[in-house]
Amino acid sequence: MTKTRATITAVGHWVPEERLTNADFEKMVDTTDEWIRTRTGISERRILRKGATSDLAANAIQATLKNRGISASEIDLIIVATVTPDMFFPCTACLVQERIGAKKAWGFDVSAACSGFPFALVTGAQFIENGTCKKVIVVGADKMSSITDYTDRANCILFGDAGGAVLLEPCEDPSGGIIDHILRCDGSGEKALNMRGGGSLNPPTHETVDKKMHYIFQDGKTVFKAAVVGMADVSGEIMERNKLQGKDVDWLVPHQANLRIIDATSDRMGLDRSKVMINIDRYGNTTAATIPLCLSEWWQAGKLRKGQTIVMASFGAGYTWGAVLARWTAENAQRG
Ligand code: UT7
Repeated sequence: MTKTRATITAVGHWVPEERLTNADFEKMVDTTDEWIRTRTGISERRILRKGATSDLAANAIQATLKNRGISASEIDLIIVATVTPDMFFPCTACLVQERIGAKKAWGFDVSAACSGFPFALVTGAQFIENGTCKKVIVVGADKMSSITDYTDRANCILFGDAGGAVLLEPCEDPSGGIIDHILRCDGSGEKALNMRGGGSLNPPTHETVDKKMHYIFQDGKTVFKAAVVGMADVSGEIMERNKLQGKDVDWLVPHQANLRIIDATSDRMGLDRSKVMINIDRYGNTTAATIPLCLSEWWQAGKLRKGQTIVMASFGAGYTWGAVLARWTAENAQRG
């Protein structure tokens, strides 16, 4: 008997309206538009002034349900990937469940930083594959502005706020859906990328606040080197073990941390830039939201189409990294 695969049947996203441009950063820290664009590929990011990660997630889920034409009461499970939960507990999935009125759903959060979406996607797919759920929402949402030190020029220019969601259902097309995944972690990376304040190791005190331990710490160069190798390695490996060449892949959907990391990954896969989803210029690094935000924008624009083969790839704090191979089965977007 062949196993039931999970597939993405709908996507949606939501971003706040307020933009922080490179010109705004030129007024805040010692930087230039030229440095930011050439070193990262970023021109602007969105900032959520009022509200929290659950708002980003709930809005992205509502957009996804609308695109599928179903109501929240049909959802069985909600998985929220985030490193900026509204609070330590209850989990953001519970807050979102109540907000959208997903009466029969249960849910939980996944913490895998920039790899949160692939980790949550693969987790959600298991519940479809084993037959216990029919409709699973996987949402990546992060209010990175809530943990960003806007005096740290090396890091503050990188991050933005966004939410992106997908709906997983059993796949009716035997050649479609989520085909394969490679997920990895290496805790030795903790030293290079972390937020050490606020948890059980360093509970919040005046001292932890004074030492700025509730902000993102990143040794950019070290993370950059690990990311270039990690993301390219798993992307290459998933292609090799599925006997795929560059010509067989329609889209690379990379985590949007740095354009130079994305280029290294597409080079390793033998993919032309025209087959790579890139929106880092408009949103910066939105952590768990980057991949579903790309999927949603490309689907909406009619560029991500039924039957296409995609590789989603990520690298982030932990370290965590991975690649997911899928064949797109969602109906094409209706464009006016
Ligand atoms: O998504 C989670 C995973 N995260 C990542 O994948 C991020 C990986 N890292 C990166 O993307 C890059 O390392 C950064 C974009 C963060 C930094 O780029 P870099 O090319 O590695 O720069 P750097 O940190 O080596 O700094 C080069 C120079 C330094 O000056 P000196 O020491 O050479 O005089 C920095 O002080 O650039 C300076 N610098 C800046 N200059 C202008 C650092 N930040 C800025 C800035 N504007 N914003």
